[in-house]
Amino acid sequence: MAIPKNKLVQAAAKARLGSVSPYSKFKVGAALLTRCGEIIGGANVESASYGLTCCAERIALFKALTDGKKNFVAVAVVARCDGGPMPCGACRQLLREYAPDAQVFIADSDDLESVRKFTVKGLLPSPFVLVP
Ligand code: THU
Repeated sequence: MAIPKNKLVQAAAKARLGSVSPYSKFKVGAALLTRCGEIIGGANVESASYGLTCCAERIALFKALTDGKKNFVAVAVVARCDGGPMPCGACRQLLREYAPDAQVFIADSDDLESVRKFTVKGLLPSPFVLVP
């Protein structure tokens, strides 16, 4: 299946509008694409207890996973910063666990046509693995 990169970036930009970020005012949107062509969006949610904040990528991933979605082929992340926002380390770990084969598209919300492309494996080549 050809990955509809621009459609996914647009979905992340749309999801970003749902950001609840009263503290940083930094709105981030993410959108996951499944092998079946489904798109699941999410946005960052902040807390007055800052450490409880949850990134857009994880919100999208948790929404998708708890709705029974799997087999993610791509994820897009959008925010208003030059070049777009790179996923933080925590999100890279979760994506590596649940979307290991996904491509990653990053874009500035002011320039959705300029998309930087990565892979989840490239962003976190050596994830934490729990050895029983
Ligand atoms: N944020 C994300 O949504 N994704 C990331 O990968 C890094 C940071 C959010 C968390 C917080 O609401 C805001 O960006 C500023 O750190």
